[in-house]
Amino acid sequence: MRKLTVCGDPILQHILAELRDKNTAPPRFRDMMEGAGLLMGLEALKDVRSQPSQVITPLKAAPARRLAQPVALVAILRAGLGMLSGLQRYVPEARVGHIGLYRNEETLNPIRYYVRLPVQVEKSFILLLDPMLATGGSAAEAVRILKTDGAKDIRLVTLLATRTGIRRVHREHPDVHIYTAAVDPVLNKIGYIVPGLGDAGDRLFTL
Ligand code: PRP
Ligand code: URA
Repeated sequence: MRKLTVCGDPILQHILAELRDKNTAPPRFRDMMEGAGLLMGLEALKDVRSQPSQVITPLKAAPARRLAQPVALVAILRAGLGMLSGLQRYVPEARVGHIGLYRNEETLNPIRYYVRLPVQVEKSFILLLDPMLATGGSAAEAVRILKTDGAKDIRLVTLLATRTGIRRVHREHPDVHIYTAAVDPVLNKIGYIVPGLGDAGDRLFTL
C-alpha cells in the first residue's frame, strides 16, 4: 500500500501490547498512549526540515541543528488527546490544534462539534493524531477540515488501523502518509477494530 508506514519498533510494540490488554487500567493506559504518541510522532517527524545552528555549551560552541519549519500537532478529540502530551513535551515549539468529531452510532459518519486550528497551518508540517483508524471516516473528515484551512503537508499518526480505513483515507487524500503500529484484520458491524483495544476514548478518560 502506498504512503503507509507500519512501525515495528520493539518498544512501541511492547507499549501496544499493554494498550490492547483489557486489564490495563486508565492511568497506565494514558501513560502508555503518551509513549506511543511520542514514538510514532518521532517516526512521522523524520522528514521535518531542520537547519544547521550553533549552541554554546558550558565549555565551547558546538554545532547543532534546529527545526526550520513550523510543526503543528492536531488531535482528533477525544482519543487523539492521549497521543499529544509526550510529543508536546519534546517539541515544545509545536502549535496545537483540536478537531472534535464523534461517530454517529448508526451510520458511523463523523459529526463535527469543535474545530480550533493553529495559525500558519499552510506552512506547517502537520501531524494529525488519532489512535484509531476504523472506517476512516473521522480521519478523512479531519484531513478535509485541515485542507480547507490551507494545510498541505499532513501526516496521519494512528496506532491501530484497518485496511478499510487506510483505503478510505488514501482514496480521499492520496497525499497523506499514514503511520500505524499495526493493521488489524477485522472491522466489526458496529465499527470496532478487532482485536483492537476497545474504545480508546473511554479507556483514556473513564475511570
Ligand atoms: C473514535 C476514534 C476515532 C474514530 C475512528 O472516536 O478516536 O476518532 O472513532 O473511527 P472511524 O475511523 O470509523 O471514523 P469516537 O467517534 O468514538 O469519539 P471519541 O474519541 O470522542 O470517543
Ligand atoms: N474507535 C475506537 O475507540 N475503537 C475502535 O475499535 C474503533 C473506533
